[in-house]
Amino acid sequence: MAERMTVSYQKKPCYDILFTRGFSELKDELAAGGNWAGRKVCIVTDSNVGPLYAQEVQKTLAPVFSACEIYEIPAGEENKTLDQVRGIYAFLIEHRFDRQDLLAALGGGVVGDMTGFAAATYLRGVDFIQIPTTLLSQVDSSIGGKTGVDFDSYKNMVGAFHMPRLVYMNLDTLQTLDARQYFSGFAEVMKQGLIRDSRFYQWLLANLYEICDRDPETLLSMVAKSCEIKRGIVERDPKEQGERALLNFGHTIGHAIEKASGFSLLHGECVALGCVAAAFLSYKRGRIPMEEYYEIRDMFVPFHLPISADNLDAEQILALTKSDKKMRAGQIRFVLLDKVGKAVLEDTVSDEEILAAIEELNFKDEG
Ligand code: GLY
Repeated sequence: MAERMTVSYQKKPCYDILFTRGFSELKDELAAGGNWAGRKVCIVTDSNVGPLYAQEVQKTLAPVFSACEIYEIPAGEENKTLDQVRGIYAFLIEHRFDRQDLLAALGGGVVGDMTGFAAATYLRGVDFIQIPTTLLSQVDSSIGGKTGVDFDSYKNMVGAFHMPRLVYMNLDTLQTLDARQYFSGFAEVMKQGLIRDSRFYQWLLANLYEICDRDPETLLSMVAKSCEIKRGIVERDPKEQGERALLNFGHTIGHAIEKASGFSLLHGECVALGCVAAAFLSYKRGRIPMEEYYEIRDMFVPFHLPISADNLDAEQILALTKSDKKMRAGQIRFVLLDKVGKAVLEDTVSDEEILAAIEELNFKDEG
């Protein structure tokens, strides 16, 4: 039996998140949520996820809709572009999708963000559902209605808020992720604990072995708790006027490293590095003691996440940090920690402090 969580938008119940195993409940869930007779659905997926799950999802959805198409985009953050969204529009036009039809995003964060953006803009907006298949998309990007694409080298620079009608999580998909993808997504889970919930953070550390082994019960508790934290934040601040910006902990320097690496480092790996840098800044500003900084830093290691990198060009990364959209009136907005479980926004971090935090990440052979 699936667990369920309802997410409100503008104080009204808006969509459910279903935590389950397998895709078999998708059909009844959709049938219960609307009348799709005579309507079409397009499953948008990528070249990694499509071969694994698209046909199974198509078979499940086909009886509910008059037509069920599959559109596949090439996998990878480097493909999160307007050009790929153009391909989705062209496919929808070719197959005569109208405003009553539905898009289904089957895949990770890139597929979810791009499909959501296509849904937000095609014919000025059609419905879509999220079927996230990676840890990152299940605990973070599928919830809260952020959609969009990268533009030139700017991450998520073009986008829209567009709420899904349903977020359907088949937790068994986490078992087929390669280790690097899985642990990369785990960085966002650590982030949720660090910014909002010290008990959850301690629970993660206490369940290290079960998390690394992907024990199904532990995964369910972990994903559901992460979603509960994120739900609380996006319900209180859906359009990122304040509190939601706390979710960007680790992302300011993280995004810049991701760009500088030419996407050879995964998003979550860069978020882990960004969290270490932000914890260092918090220590340097006297918000947390030095021991706490080292503890936070070192806890990424057993979860197979990086805490340093080779040859980071601090000046280049600082410049990239300034091109991020998290600037406010020309000032970079950082998320720092007052303690584990309590994040704060900080607009006064200087270039010198940022350079020192990036240098702190540069690999040093301490042996
Ligand atoms: N991933 C950050 C947010 O949804 O606001």
